Amino acid sequence: MNSKTEAQKRIAELTEQINYHNQLYYQEDTSEISDFEFDQLLNELIQLETEYPDLLRPESPSQRVGGTITKVFETAEHEQRMLSLGNTYSESELIAFDERVAKGLGHRDYTYFCELKFDGVAISLVYENGRLIRAVTRGDGFKGDVVTENVKTIRNIPLYIKGEEIPERFEARGEIFLPKKEFDKINAEREKSGDPLLANPRNAASGTLKMQDSSVVAKRRLNCYFYQLIGDENLVSRHDQAIHQLEKWGFNVSQTYKNCTDIQSVLSFIESWREKRHHLPLDTDGVVLKVNDYQQREILGFTAKIPRWAIAYKYKAESALSTIRNITFQVGRTGAITPVANLSPVQLAGTTVKRASLHNANEILRLDLHEGDQVFVEKGGEIIPKITGVSLENRKPNAKPFSYITHCPECHTHLNRKEGEAKHYCPNAMGCPPQLLGRIEHFVHKRAMDIDSLGTERIRALINQGYVKDPADIYDLESKQDKLLGLEINDDQYTKDQNGSLYVTLRKALFALTEGISLSAIDRFLEDTEGLEQQERLQAFKNYLKKFQTKSDVNLAYIARFEDWLQKATWDTIEDYVPVAPVLLVWIKDLEVEQLVKLCKEKNSVHNIVLEFDFTLTEQQTEKLKKLKGNTFQEGVISNMMEGIKTSKNQPFEKVLFALGIRNIGENTAKLLAEQFGSIDALAASSIEELLEINGVGETLAQSLQDFFSDPKNQELISRLKGHGLHFKKEKKESQQESQKLTGLKILASGKLNHFKRDEIIDFVESHGGTYLKSVSKNLDFIIEGEDMGPSKKEKAQKLGIKMIDEQAFLNLLNHHG
Ligand code: IVH
Repeated sequence: MNSKTEAQKRIAELTEQINYHNQLYYQEDTSEISDFEFDQLLNELIQLETEYPDLLRPESPSQRVGGTITKVFETAEHEQRMLSLGNTYSESELIAFDERVAKGLGHRDYTYFCELKFDGVAISLVYENGRLIRAVTRGDGFKGDVVTENVKTIRNIPLYIKGEEIPERFEARGEIFLPKKEFDKINAEREKSGDPLLANPRNAASGTLKMQDSSVVAKRRLNCYFYQLIGDENLVSRHDQAIHQLEKWGFNVSQTYKNCTDIQSVLSFIESWREKRHHLPLDTDGVVLKVNDYQQREILGFTAKIPRWAIAYKYKAESALSTIRNITFQVGRTGAITPVANLSPVQLAGTTVKRASLHNANEILRLDLHEGDQVFVEKGGEIIPKITGVSLENRKPNAKPFSYITHCPECHTHLNRKEGEAKHYCPNAMGCPPQLLGRIEHFVHKRAMDIDSLGTERIRALINQGYVKDPADIYDLESKQDKLLGLEINDDQYTKDQNGSLYVTLRKALFALTEGISLSAIDRFLEDTEGLEQQERLQAFKNYLKKFQTKSDVNLAYIARFEDWLQKATWDTIEDYVPVAPVLLVWIKDLEVEQLVKLCKEKNSVHNIVLEFDFTLTEQQTEKLKKLKGNTFQEGVISNMMEGIKTSKNQPFEKVLFALGIRNIGENTAKLLAEQFGSIDALAASSIEELLEINGVGETLAQSLQDFFSDPKNQELISRLKGHGLHFKKEKKESQQESQKLTGLKILASGKLNHFKRDEIIDFVESHGGTYLKSVSKNLDFIIEGEDMGPSKKEKAQKLGIKMIDEQAFLNLLNHHG
């Protein structure tokens, strides 16, 4: 940019564009440009403003990118207490409320301003001379946390307002929320990377608001609806005027409000939103009705905590009746078992519900669930629906109660349940796939072996398809690269039936069984036919295919052939999945049915089945297989993985030790042990007593180490990893070698030293060729006694007859020695 005037012009343009896109995004829920393009505009603006700092306006959209770090949030008092509202679930209580209002005022000449009750986090914003100066959470109503920097990142909260009649100081209150869409996006990403899911948008919003790094907050796309203006009395005398004033000043007000003339129209307002509210961008849990006129509000006044002029009507958590199809059991990364009820799909609170968590065996007993029961499902504030009861009159006479599993559904190990614990656990920590996943994720973690090219999805694929059974297998992958090419990455596409036969998602099967139909067209079809029995669904699919002009005959023939193959044997029906064998038989003629059925039991993926074929596939068959497999390992991914695996061999011993995932050995303990013992062999050979002598090692830890090293499987693991060249010895810091004056001497320092900070003495001893030991043992040549050496250590040293010298004597030793 060659002149300041040009810069000024461009800044104005950019500001206008960015504000326009923000408005589209926040107010109209659409966007015309990608996030990337948006960021580019913003970056250009920031650059110009950095070049010409005096052109930076406080209201510039660049002021929302965050970057401040707040360690502890200060608290601030609210000028006016942030009240709560009385609430009710019943219409008759609303009518009673209205009677009290009429009585209090002595007439019926009033109106109610109705708004939805937004489920987010209340916020108070204070503006002075049009500028946002402070944002405070509700806290206890009297005082809350100051979160100004974080709130400034919310792109549609005015940082500065212009116009006439702006009071010198005023306060706008509203509800900050995380839009449902954003919440789903964040959770989908968290699921992918294996992070625990956020429970609901409300918690997510409140957690986000309290984040320390405002640039992280900026990425989370919070939003805010305003519903209260406090300030200049002369400005407005009614709530509807206040709302319009807020709108005029550019505050975001949800366009769902209505001024109602009597309680009956309030009731119809409530009814009109009961269903519709689920289509709003945020969660709402009721309707707030407020007497509109401020003078009337004053007459009505308050009780101890709540106004007499407003009340919230809350919608009851909706419940729907559904049928339990079966109960499946999920195994977590810690081995904890969670039973999940699979339900016939029902519409509930705007979404289709197909599953509900049952938590543990007690819950199944408490509900007394029987096979085929009709159950009431509710969706409260949490994303996972729950079963609240059974409709007993619909129970079939011979229905059997559900029994709990005794063996792990993933690895068939007998389950444990500790006394007093609600959950069952699979004890096969080393071999059970989901637990192995946790173990491998730990092994490759940034702070352990740091193989970031091995993400959760890839690891899961490698485990489930039999390529990784323990951490050492990762280093064997290099010799199996040719087999990895084409291996499926998306694990959800497979499941197995009772007999262990492989099933693939109906989605992928239909995609592979047809030509010229896009995956999204298939998704649309599946969405529309959710809940149909499988046979009916295939029939419906054939009708759907007829709508497409291209290839419809060919496609119909494929599906018909698939149905034929399906009928040749009895298959379990698994919702949304179909057996793999009949799919492959449709277009691979060289297959021997029996052999294929056998392979489908032995293998966990189409890729591994196809590896066993002794004939070459045609190009067309390969294409179809590609469609069936979906996302697969390609050359680029494989070489990237191999590179990461190779580099990880350079990780130092302490990281390798941490990566092994020995129980109770965190990062710091691993470091301590690595320093103390210097090698895995020395560590493995140490006795419990020796371990206990180390500061920071207690009974539990010493026992974990003993257990770990005494297991032959772990010994083998270590020897295989050694074979692959991982570091199992601490590297000597050769460069820092100062002298050899302490060579051959084993030394310990205890108590406070004057010339050395905590761990400096260790490096110092080692840099002069000595060995530093961290515990008192008879192997020591001497102890450097600092100030306040611990009495028990001293006693022990004396008992063992170890020489003790003071710090000065030690330093003299170095100066005069040799
Ligand atoms: S008015 C004295 N209006 O509900 C009235 N509150 O229970 C002050 N809330 O802390 C609040 N939507 O966080 C009001 N349209 C709305 C609301 C609303 C949600 C929350 C707010 C408040 C709580 C009161």
